Amino acid sequence: MAFLADALSRIKPSATIMLTQKARDLKATGRDVISLSVGEPDFDTPDNIKEAAIAAIRRGETKYTPVPGILPLREAITRKFKRENELDYKPSQVIVGTGGKHVIYNAFLSTLNPGDEVVIPAPYWVSYPEIVLLCGGTPVPVLTTIENNFKLQAADLERVLTPKTKWVLLNSPSNPSGAAYSHEEMKAITDVLVRHPHVWVLTDDMYEHLVYGDFKFVTPAQVEPSLYERTLTMNGVSKAYAMTGWRIGYAAGPEHLIRAMDMVQGQQTSGACSIAQWAAVEALDGPQDHLGVFRKAFEERRALVVSMLNQARGLNCPMPEGAFYVYPSCAPLMGKTAPSGKVIETDEDFVMELLATEGVAAVHGSSFGLGPNLRISYATSIDKLEDACARIQRFCAELR
Ligand SMILES: Cc1ncc(COP(=O)(O)O)c(C=O)c1O
Repeated sequence: MAFLADALSRIKPSATIMLTQKARDLKATGRDVISLSVGEPDFDTPDNIKEAAIAAIRRGETKYTPVPGILPLREAITRKFKRENELDYKPSQVIVGTGGKHVIYNAFLSTLNPGDEVVIPAPYWVSYPEIVLLCGGTPVPVLTTIENNFKLQAADLERVLTPKTKWVLLNSPSNPSGAAYSHEEMKAITDVLVRHPHVWVLTDDMYEHLVYGDFKFVTPAQVEPSLYERTLTMNGVSKAYAMTGWRIGYAAGPEHLIRAMDMVQGQQTSGACSIAQWAAVEALDGPQDHLGVFRKAFEERRALVVSMLNQARGLNCPMPEGAFYVYPSCAPLMGKTAPSGKVIETDEDFVMELLATEGVAAVHGSSFGLGPNLRISYATSIDKLEDACARIQRFCAELR
């Protein structure tokens, strides 16, 4: 009898975590390594948020909390949705989890039955298909193209919907491509969904605040209010408030879905960390000035990285609207030989050789369901980015 669960044989470890660890290991040997594989802002949590957490500890907010989250946080979340997304929710329609990933997991755990399909535009965040598989569902990737800036096209969505489709999982701005849907682009997608009333929408808006230039973020239930009754709008404080380690994510949707997720969470993690929840209240209700600082820094870095990568021989890097990733194609470099003699057959070969020869860690696109590409995170200093992009240029130039 096998000791490990069969479910484990269906999933694979996270490529982003694997590459980040490989970079760390190489660094530990004394090599000069620049990691462009991380998925978190390089900024610190703003002080007002830290102070709110310290005050919560001093007040003794250190006990179990209600399973779906403390009422003051759920109220702050309803205010956030009203203020920023024109969405009306009651606190009873909100659930707080231990990070955004946990909220997605519980949404699927409480709704998926064997055979249920979840449509996932590719490239996708590495965890989506694996979470669906762990919850017993069937991920259905739908490919986008670089020509369409990695955005799902209405006709492609229409084509993959079946009677078994339970969810369509949208993520704008996207990890890994940075692509974000304008109002018009989102409307094209929601128009399709309106015609398929059995399909639910899970929208992962985690990177909502990280959009650049005059791009305006929109979310599906805002663009198409008739989808409100079958949309779970998920978000969190991890990226916009530089709070990845605090582990607070949340979602709002129809009360019967939230109740089901509450039941699952009640037999699982229970309420999220009490202190982190009070910190999240301050994040959502407090001053938002740091966002301007984050955005300005990311926008400068995006300009530098896109420009330098487009100067690398064989790379084609579109300018994304948001998040802190770019997703250049490296297709023309497949089949070429590195100075070490290694033939670069896949994007995974490319990132492994890049790390070994130039000490730059990126993540291969094929792990996000669309390649040959690289995901490059620009959540690091301009100096390091300049150095890393120069190394990538040299690496590409030396492939024969
Ligand atoms: C698209 C997307 N959704 C959700 C998450 C998870 O967020 P959290 O750290 O709050 O679990 C991430 C983190 O990388 C992400 O990129």
